[in-house]
Amino acid sequence: MKHEKRIDPWGTADIDDYRNLFDEFGIKPFDKFREKLSDSRYIRRGIVFGHRDFERIMECIEGNKKFVMMTGLMPSGKFHLGHKIVADQIIWYQGIGAEIFLCSADLEAYAVRGIDLETARRITIDEYLTNYVALGLTKKNLTFWFQSDYVVPYYRFRDMLTRKVTLNELKAIYGSLTPGKILSVLTQSADILHPQLPEFLGATPTVVPVGTDQDPHMRLTRDLAARFQSEFKLILPSSTYHKFMRGLQGGKMSSSEPKSYIALTDDPEVVMKKIMNSKTGGRATIREHREKGGIPERCMVYDLFLYHLIDDDEELENIYRDCRSGDNVCGECKAVCSEIMIKFLKEHQRRRKRSERIVEKILEK
Ligand code: TRP
Ligand code: SF4
Repeated sequence: MKHEKRIDPWGTADIDDYRNLFDEFGIKPFDKFREKLSDSRYIRRGIVFGHRDFERIMECIEGNKKFVMMTGLMPSGKFHLGHKIVADQIIWYQGIGAEIFLCSADLEAYAVRGIDLETARRITIDEYLTNYVALGLTKKNLTFWFQSDYVVPYYRFRDMLTRKVTLNELKAIYGSLTPGKILSVLTQSADILHPQLPEFLGATPTVVPVGTDQDPHMRLTRDLAARFQSEFKLILPSSTYHKFMRGLQGGKMSSSEPKSYIALTDDPEVVMKKIMNSKTGGRATIREHREKGGIPERCMVYDLFLYHLIDDDEELENIYRDCRSGDNVCGECKAVCSEIMIKFLKEHQRRRKRSERIVEKILEK
């Protein structure tokens, strides 16, 4: 079936119906791994909802075999709760013994987002790495690099990729192209595949946890891996797909709209206000709310509990039930949410202050 829809990694298109992705793009439901990997909150709760070839990674996890988790961070703007979803996953993979390859896409930020390299570097360190470490990332089994400043075999491989891809193919995947986009796409494929080169680990199962916006890159990278079989033995990379958090006001959570997100460095008073002004699934009046109950599925406050604040499933269920029944009203619920959030952020911001040495170690070559 030919599909009209195209996922644009540089666009803003909302992918509202995740189920569509299964039929249209060949992403498979993640359900069957949920039980076995239930210690990950995002997996347990279906926030990680899709995958390509994750079976291969599951085999490594169960058989205690070496595998790579690779992902790239885009150094633009504040590190917020949306980014924390990726960070927590990286840290979870590190905890179960994966080889972590993590890059700053500073070159992509430069080439297609108009951010200069110095700014990108500062954001990478102050926003991303410092928050990652405060959330629990360590130096163990971690390779970190900037796309703009890495090693020769990586750049050689990126440039060699040019022989196995045509301009028409890139156009079909990405629509309009610029030299910057082409370079970014090839660099991203090199990010994902280079750990398998002989200079690094050799052929190794690799998983890339991404939002669905990055899927076009995954498809291209997997095709490229297949086309290089005679030159390098590369295993097609696996991927997982997670849902994005919605913005606090409904709509998109966007770095350019501070009201839509909570940054991990936000002040408590600001956070309190943001939560108080969040869109909820509550009814127009308290009376109606008590009668009919709220709709947690439409509530951004509930999302905060679900994604970040409440780890205990039973506790979350209670919140859900008390909302549905009308026993919980939004004012009180927001107050509880603010309290837990502020406690978490204060502790996190303390940990940030103690992260510097580890961040320096990570940056050492
Ligand atoms: N393009 C990604 C983004 O916009 C960043 C990125 C660069 C990346 N290299 C990667 C993501 C490798 C996954 C794997 O966020
Ligand atoms: Fe959201 Fe809580 Fe209101 Fe329910 S009671 S709609 S969970 S804020």
